Amino acid sequence: MKVQVSAFDLAKAKGAVVAFVQEGNKLTTFAQAQDDQTKLFSETDRGRFTGGFKQLQLVNDKKDQTIYVGVGKKVAQGQWRKLGLSLGKKLESMGIAEATILLDGDASDVSVVEAACEFAEGADQAFYRLDEFKSDMKPAHKTKFKKMNFMVAEEELKATKAALKDFEEVSQAVYMARDLVNLPGNVVTPDYMEEKALQLKTHGIKVDVYDEKKLKKLGMNLMLSVGNASKYDTRMIVMTYNGAAKTAPTYAMVGKGITFDTGGYSLKPAANMVGMHADMGGAAAVLGAMRLLAGKKAKVNVVAVLAVAENMVSSDATRPSDIVTGYAGKSVEILNTDAEGRLVLCDAIAWTVDKIKPAAILDIATLTGACMMALGAHYAGGFSNNDEVFHDLEEAGNKSGDRVWRLPIGPEYHAMIKSDFADIANIGGMYAGASTAACFLEKFVEETPWAHIDVAGVAMGGKLGPNPEIKGGTGFGVKLLAEYMMSKAK
Ligand code: BES
Ligand code: MG
Ligand code: ZN
Repeated sequence: MKVQVSAFDLAKAKGAVVAFVQEGNKLTTFAQAQDDQTKLFSETDRGRFTGGFKQLQLVNDKKDQTIYVGVGKKVAQGQWRKLGLSLGKKLESMGIAEATILLDGDASDVSVVEAACEFAEGADQAFYRLDEFKSDMKPAHKTKFKKMNFMVAEEELKATKAALKDFEEVSQAVYMARDLVNLPGNVVTPDYMEEKALQLKTHGIKVDVYDEKKLKKLGMNLMLSVGNASKYDTRMIVMTYNGAAKTAPTYAMVGKGITFDTGGYSLKPAANMVGMHADMGGAAAVLGAMRLLAGKKAKVNVVAVLAVAENMVSSDATRPSDIVTGYAGKSVEILNTDAEGRLVLCDAIAWTVDKIKPAAILDIATLTGACMMALGAHYAGGFSNNDEVFHDLEEAGNKSGDRVWRLPIGPEYHAMIKSDFADIANIGGMYAGASTAACFLEKFVEETPWAHIDVAGVAMGGKLGPNPEIKGGTGFGVKLLAEYMMSKAK
């Protein structure tokens, strides 16, 4: 969707008008100004509408529609996004193409600028569709919504315009990640991931692909072991974006890109295997974030690494209890082939630490069911060896709406992944599964400031995940990673 910002002027409102009402049917300043002219709100039977949070009231004039959105008492950080999403769904169901949002500073804990950004992001999520497999998808079924106009007070105009200038970049980056997560495993193969990454070259991003031959030469046997049974080649995709001076530090992101996770010989039960085409949600977030950083011309240097493989079963597959030594020279006893994310990631992380020497490294992965059990759809799990990195990540999370909750790592959890015959085991037993997975990765980051983001519970919405508001991929992580990186801009 397109976004425009202009100064408050009712005469220039286009499309449906959206006005905000506080609890007790208290109109905000702009809503009141509209009502003074039209009496639309005050002279309509509003039924049970009280201005409660997320309540919607549609009032039709002869030619115009006004939608009153209840905001409750005051809208806290993150909540404008929710209001945007519910309004977006309403606009979508009504087939409306354009709306004008009357946004004053009333009723908000956050600034008008933040409120507008959040609201736009939330609404934009409502218009997302994946319809290429619906054979009956006539144009009539497609989203009609095109443009959202924010009307703000004169003194907010400049800052709000500036903040929303690149809105379409945000929209497209998040949509791209959602498409990648939603498209099934027979479409988003490792080959397809490479193709998508290469497309980012046109955005000014350098892309290097390490194929199986190169990976073998580098000794990245843990990554290779995961994809060994797949007919598609495993690869590591390295993307470089230099938005800052050569002398500025480089930050790194690493994403788990398992295009389908059967579990391998530690086969998943049928019900748990459904949806495992989304096991590349981390890589999708990294791709989206790179696109967004380039789109915004962020003044930061970033290297992004995608660890891409398909976890299948064949006579070439890894056997539970195989011992494999990867790039870092550490041997791993693979007791469970379904704990494959950490295997592709550890080689990618070890390579990144060794070759890129980043100032900090963030990895993101749909890593453990345990994390989903712990936090559901409301927070990603966060783990870090560095309080400053985690603090900045948490802040980026609160700002972007992709929130992160810190979970523990430490010697107690490291002790759980000791192996009898190798340096490390790839599983730590049935307890604290998110923390033992993080500890496994920590062994490969050495002294580099690092945070790990487990998005198993948040990458997918709807039926397949604990987030019922959004169907399929959520795009979680795109804005989080980009926000973190932009906080490092010089
Ligand atoms: N892809 C899964 C994690 C996952 C589970 C993501 C549910 C999204 C929803 C991962 O590869 C996996 O299978 N992890 C195992 C680890 C276990 C064997 C130690 C898990 O969580 O059960
Ligand atoms: Mg193969
Ligand atoms: Zn798995």
